[in-house]
Amino acid sequence: LPLEGLQAGGSGPLYLKLRQSLEDAILSGKLNHGDALPPERDLADYANISRVTVRKAVDDLVRDGLLVRRHGSGTFVVKPVSRVQQSLSRLTSFTEDMARRGLNTRAQWIERGLFQPSPDEIMTLGLPADGLVARLGRLRIADDLPLAIERASISAEFLPDPTRVTSSLYAELDKTRSRPTRAVQRISACALKDPDAAMLGVAVGSASLSIERISYLASGRVVEFTRSLYRGDAYDFVAELTLSD
Ligand code: GLP
Repeated sequence: LPLEGLQAGGSGPLYLKLRQSLEDAILSGKLNHGDALPPERDLADYANISRVTVRKAVDDLVRDGLLVRRHGSGTFVVKPVSRVQQSLSRLTSFTEDMARRGLNTRAQWIERGLFQPSPDEIMTLGLPADGLVARLGRLRIADDLPLAIERASISAEFLPDPTRVTSSLYAELDKTRSRPTRAVQRISACALKDPDAAMLGVAVGSASLSIERISYLASGRVVEFTRSLYRGDAYDFVAELTLSD
């Protein structure tokens, strides 16, 4: 890190100069997404400045979302991502959306199995009294960037063996002709808390889009009830509007 000479060069508070050098290192790619920042004590020794000054510069970058502190493991670089433009009117899957952009997807599983449904799931999915629910909880990653956390509930009738979903839920539903053909989606704003913020690699309090999707078969049966948290710095949802009469 180019931290020598912070004391000597230019005017202005030291912490701002340190902040600038760190920011330059992140934006120029000298520090990469996921890299750990050296411990504050090492940075202070190295640049020959006080730890209070280092802390102040790091605090600033955490607040601006360029760094994230993870409890017990250190401070990490968050690289600004290029935003994804997502159409609001097409019923596509995450895997398809990313493939169209030439990105590879993978998942970090949070949960995958059959469960006794919650009252909410019974109601939304219209489950029979003795029905089970398949739950898929995933951190969805595109080309190594965590973009969204999705928690899907599907009637076990449509997905009796959730472990068969290795990459795409919709591809799996397609095989049994139970891929949804219509969905209602609700989008609202929310601030991320831990552990979601940590999983997405952003600071606590960062903006996110909370999206609920209820999808249906042509028969009107509900297939999926999914709650997702999309990174606010990575997504633009775009809808075409037409004048109705
Ligand atoms: C989107 C939707 C989810 C849906 C998922 C399926 O992300 N928000 O409601 O479950 O796509 O994606 P895939 O088929 O890649 O698992």
